[in-house]
Amino acid sequence: MSVVKSRADLKEWWDRRYSELGSLSFEASVRDRNFNRLEITRAIETMRPHLSAGDAVLDAGCGHGAFLHALAEAVPFDLDLVGIELSDATKDPDETGVYIRIIGDAFEFLRATERRFKVVYTQRSVINFLNEDRQLEFIHLTARRLTDDGWIVLSELFRADLDSHNAYRAKLGVEPLGIQKHIVPVDEDRIRAAYGEEFDITVCDYLNTYMLITHIVYPHLAGKLEHNQPIHDFAAGLPETVPGFSPYKLMVLKRKT
Ligand SMILES: C[S@@+](CC[C@H](N)C(=O)[O-])C[C@H]1O[C@@H](n2cnc3c(N)ncnc32)[C@H](O)[C@@H]1O
Repeated sequence: MSVVKSRADLKEWWDRRYSELGSLSFEASVRDRNFNRLEITRAIETMRPHLSAGDAVLDAGCGHGAFLHALAEAVPFDLDLVGIELSDATKDPDETGVYIRIIGDAFEFLRATERRFKVVYTQRSVINFLNEDRQLEFIHLTARRLTDDGWIVLSELFRADLDSHNAYRAKLGVEPLGIQKHIVPVDEDRIRAAYGEEFDITVCDYLNTYMLITHIVYPHLAGKLEHNQPIHDFAAGLPETVPGFSPYKLMVLKRKT
């Protein structure tokens, strides 16, 4: 049974996690370095053409701020970057003021702020919002704080894709992907039904080769899931295969003009 039922429980869970693994350890958020790099790279490639000098970007649930640092480095102009993070056990590893760092609740921030953002980004944060209604509420609050041509970019774990990923694992006798009990995978259909009229919604299906090799074939052969092995570095450099192996996708909601 889940021990994380409220936002206070969730904060406690993340505070403990970040403290146990070292406040600057990116492994507190995701153990697999290659996965994290591919995730950040794909998100930046996707939103880069949409951004110009001075645009405001919000990362909701920014952890240590790795994504915002990578984004600042990837563009040749200044952006107005904001990161909000619930857990005060996180720290910015490079306190050079690359972004405005706010410790607090993303929902409260979005309700209170008068700022507008060209992009609001999440990286495995929406799956932490405790239930599907709150996930939709987050998109609702975010939509109100977007510029007229704003995008919401969600790098998240999706339910139907998790089921199909686990079905492939089952065929090889590999146990379902272990996810923390408080995680609520995102229901793509529900978001499309709720926001399909207001936004053009596209989904990037990526990480397929990587997930196939590291999360299906490797655990079958090794008898356990491991991270950061030589095979992971190898897999991270391979091109994409046919879709359907990765439960992690990038959903982009572009406001219809
Ligand atoms: C899986 S971690 C991802 C962190 C970061 N995005 C990354 O990819 O490294 C989820 C993060 O969301 C944060 N979070 C969860 N609920 C939040 C909320 N309501 N407001 C702000 N941050 C929240 C957690 O504290 C945690 O740091």
